[in-house]
Amino acid sequence: MDIRTDIPLKSYTTMKLGGPARFMGEAQTPQDIATIYHNARPKNLPIFILGGGSNLIVRDEGYPGIVVRNLIKGFTVIEDTPQYTTFEIGAGENWDETVKRTVELHLTGIEALSAIPGTVGAAPVQNIGAYGQEVADSLISLQAYDSQEDRFVVLQNIDCGFSYRHSIFRGEAEGRYVITSVQLKLWKANPTPPFYKALEEYFALYSITLFTPEAIRDAVIQIRKDKLPDPTLQPNTGSFFKNAIIEKWQLEDLKPTYEDIPFYDLGNGTYKIPTGWLIERAGLKGKLLHGMRVHDKNCLVLINEAATGYSDLAAARDEIIATVRDTFRIMIEQEPLEIQ
Ligand code: EPU
Repeated sequence: MDIRTDIPLKSYTTMKLGGPARFMGEAQTPQDIATIYHNARPKNLPIFILGGGSNLIVRDEGYPGIVVRNLIKGFTVIEDTPQYTTFEIGAGENWDETVKRTVELHLTGIEALSAIPGTVGAAPVQNIGAYGQEVADSLISLQAYDSQEDRFVVLQNIDCGFSYRHSIFRGEAEGRYVITSVQLKLWKANPTPPFYKALEEYFALYSITLFTPEAIRDAVIQIRKDKLPDPTLQPNTGSFFKNAIIEKWQLEDLKPTYEDIPFYDLGNGTYKIPTGWLIERAGLKGKLLHGMRVHDKNCLVLINEAATGYSDLAAARDEIIATVRDTFRIMIEQEPLEIQ
């Protein structure tokens, strides 16, 4: 296997900043993953698996071990019934290309996750979600290399510990599993209303009444185009912060001052507040902080306009977190993963 040295990671992330990887390799098969672990273990080299680099922040010091590009391909039908089709898809496949292929087959389940950058293997890590769908809703199971036990395992949906933008892969099992493929179950039926508000508004505006997976995909692509900057033109990682989850008393505390505060009742005594709104109302919309631009069409997104490195990004991030904390007494959190 070809291992290269001192590779600038900024060319492998959509935020386009951060230092180099000491080593970099490519995995074309699940066995390549196991081989890389076998070779690295005696040398005590840490390993980081890279997907599309679209939800990843690299620090200026870079990575002291091996960064592995996961290029494992595959798109196979496992089961086909009159109601649904189940696929096994390689972790290195492009996510949006996969959505496109399934939508072209008129299947429902991931069409609202259109135009999300990154790979199939990265999708479960942060449980990608948009416009009313999450990958956890369609994922049956996944195959992974368990670096702790040195064997390949199948994890069922329930084993993955999915919640909002979270899974065991960025939680308690971080660094343990390398996802090699996922199984998705998609339905042979049109999606049914009610849809996410932005979609309902789009359908009303264009008088769309036939809700096919294709119609949802087209609408999501248009909506995202308006709100999210293209990472190939303006370096960014999509939402840079998670939406805030607060307790009822916190919401009640804020309501008298901010009568128009948007919130979603999560049904368990907690409420989700759009962090984009918090940042906007804290007066940061469109601001340039340490070379990072708070996107004027969606304050949840930070664009790297002129940051000299990770330290600039960190300074901008900390300033935004502190301003939101001082304004609303809410602590917001970074959404993209940070390479350690
Ligand atoms: N809002 C503002 N100002 C802003 C941004 C948002 O006031 O600058 C308010 C508006 O009230 C709007 C509400 O926030 O109605 C929600 O905004 P939107 O529907 O755009 O969703 P979001 O909460 O900003 C989340 C995801 C996105 C996903 C959209 C659509 C997170 C962290 N982000 O954003 O995911 O596309 O919902 O479902 O949960 C990503 O993770 O990279 C991403 C883009």
